[in-house]
Amino acid sequence: MKRFFSLFCLLLNLLFLASLFFAYSLIRKGFTARSTPPALEKIIATTALSLSIPQSVKEMKNPIPYSQAVLDEARDHFADHCALCHGNNGSGETPVGQNLYPKPTDLRSKEAQKKSDGEIYYIIHNGIRWTGMPAWGEAKEPDEDSWKLVHFIRHLPYLTKEEEEKMKKMNPISPQEIQEEKEEEKFLEEDNSLGDASKEQQEQ
Ligand code: HEC
Repeated sequence: MKRFFSLFCLLLNLLFLASLFFAYSLIRKGFTARSTPPALEKIIATTALSLSIPQSVKEMKNPIPYSQAVLDEARDHFADHCALCHGNNGSGETPVGQNLYPKPTDLRSKEAQKKSDGEIYYIIHNGIRWTGMPAWGEAKEPDEDSWKLVHFIRHLPYLTKEEEEKMKKMNPISPQEIQEEKEEEKFLEEDNSLGDASKEQQEQ
């Protein structure tokens, strides 16, 4: 019994030292969002996330029937609200997405697509704590917009170039960018009219 007790104390001490070391290395490395979570942290976080989603929600079927109109609406919605971090194609390769901790998973990947419709809906509707993923839609259920987005996320692996072009037009732009676009258009118009003038001169 005495031996068991000293072994227990030794283990407790080791655990304490390991926690101290972990806390020390965390503080030394800082809380930078530039790095990527180590494998163990990722496993713990994804398991905890999966366990936090109720089984009944995981088994839910999408109450919104699939149609082209629903897909078009969700695509525009995604371009407007989600592409900032996830990119229009869902890759997560955007300046914001690549500098988050954790970085958004490629939504076209097996890892993301193997989630059930209910799980994807739950994540969109409730967000993910301690990540950049916000909660979307109204708090009341069912949140139809989030269910429509589930259809779009299923479609992401098959997104066409034409669809991506349409999405670019729906991406939010800042007032500064609007001003820059206007100036560019004006410049091009002036350039064209100069071109016409020189043509006229040549013709004379
Ligand atoms: C501010 C950045 C940001 C925005 C905006 C954002 N997300 Fe996310 N999203 C994240 C991060 C970070 C994660 C967590 C990392 C991960 O698991 O991909 C995430 C996770 C997800 C996941 C789970 C992926 C997986 O496999 O675990 C889905 C689905 C998702 N987002 C959909 C959306 C949709 C739909 C929108 C728009 C309505 C959206 N996100 C807007 C950053 C964002």
